[in-house]
Amino acid sequence: THTSVGIIGAGPAGLLLARLLHNAGIDCVVLENRDRAYVEQRQRAGILEQSTVDVLRSAGAGERMDREGLPHDGIELRYDRRSHRIDFPSLTGGRRVMVYAQTEMVKDLVAQQLADGAPLFFESEVTRIEGVEGVEDADGTKGIHGTKAPTPTIHYHHQDRGPTTLTCDYIAGCDGFHGVARNAVPAGLRRTYERTYPYSWLGILAQAPPAYDELIYAHSSRGFALASMRSPAVSRLYLQVPNGTDPADWPDARVWDELDARLATDADPGWKLERGPIAATSVLPMRSRVVEPMRYGRLLLAGDAAHIVPPTGAKGLNLAVADVVVLARALVQRHVTGSTELLDAYSDTCLRRVWRAEHFSYAMTELLHADPAHSAFETRLQLSQLDRIAHSRHAAAELAENYTGLPIALPS
Ligand code: FAD
Ligand code: DHB
Repeated sequence: THTSVGIIGAGPAGLLLARLLHNAGIDCVVLENRDRAYVEQRQRAGILEQSTVDVLRSAGAGERMDREGLPHDGIELRYDRRSHRIDFPSLTGGRRVMVYAQTEMVKDLVAQQLADGAPLFFESEVTRIEGVEGVEDADGTKGIHGTKAPTPTIHYHHQDRGPTTLTCDYIAGCDGFHGVARNAVPAGLRRTYERTYPYSWLGILAQAPPAYDELIYAHSSRGFALASMRSPAVSRLYLQVPNGTDPADWPDARVWDELDARLATDADPGWKLERGPIAATSVLPMRSRVVEPMRYGRLLLAGDAAHIVPPTGAKGLNLAVADVVVLARALVQRHVTGSTELLDAYSDTCLRRVWRAEHFSYAMTELLHADPAHSAFETRLQLSQLDRIAHSRHAAAELAENYTGLPIALPS
């Protein structure tokens, strides 16, 4: 079979791209190696920035988000046993965020795709792609050297049907951190920029009302803590832990005691989290990584397949969304006018915003965590910078603008 755009991966990037292409009348096929239940239950991000909310609404995929999501106008920073609120709308000209879990966004997009969209095949593992290296001439038929361009081809293995191929005009590599698509970019052309961090997050999902009506990001001498939520009855909480931590070493009581200690504030001395049954405990390593370029011939990478951020700035999912908005616009231009101008600019357009989010995620991570290699000097610098954010409108606005999300296309 042949399709215009072969999409590898049914995470936020692949699913939203499929929706945007469907809305524009461009056919595509989505191939996902996991089953539907797995994809819909994978616990991941929870915060949608303003631009992501706007994109989901305009794509016609925001109805349940608007009904069940929790709009948030700010976050609370806790440090040195003090509390300071950052108010987003007043610092950004009205921007805010939405608490709506990645699991819910994925469920909405999968349901729409299966109801009226292009084919979406679960349990279909892509093993190899080929033929992406040709760049079309203006008439769309010739390769770079005047010979016919090879046809981009996806080889995949379907659970029941076995080995299968799909030919495409373009391939969108939306297959995440462990994906195979980026390997089709020749090693000599691929540049990888990477950083690891000397700590991880222990994440829990608890049947307990949230700590507070906004998210709390806490700096403490015991390490970072984050109090987030999934609904008025379900909390999502994170603790900084050493790399290599075994979740078995963190029985429920230890998790709650540690969260109480790290989130303590003199503004409310008797304050404690409301406890409840913990559903899932997992350890997440932290990493920054960018793979450049995001385009090779007729292969376009989007989301975690091209870049990873540490989760502190809540940017991973939102970056994936921004990439596919840029990609959909470029594919629509190609489809409607024949021009490849936006496709040619795709990698540069995305990377400008990607590097801003990389910087913000790195800076938030370094600002809030207790690095075992740091001396008291670095800790004083962190507290000084947190004070600066608390007392300078400029510093607070810089945080608020980045947290609520920069425009999808940044000026060059
Ligand atoms: P993914 O969601 O990873 O989707 C890629 C899809 O491709 C997957 O469904 C995968 O199964 C599929 N796939 C992979 N290989 C193949 C193949 N060979 N063939 C077919 N399909 C394939 N971000 C935040 O902002 N906040 C958070 O708290 C947060 N927590 C996270 C926790 C974890 C454990 C992880 C891994 C990520 C977290 N992130 C978080 C990041 C955020 O979830 C990602 O940035 C986001 O999922 C990126 O979407 P994506 O569509 O690019 O990739
Ligand atoms: C969540 C995760 C984050 O990394 C973050 O910065 C905020 C919220 C969450 O899972 O709710």
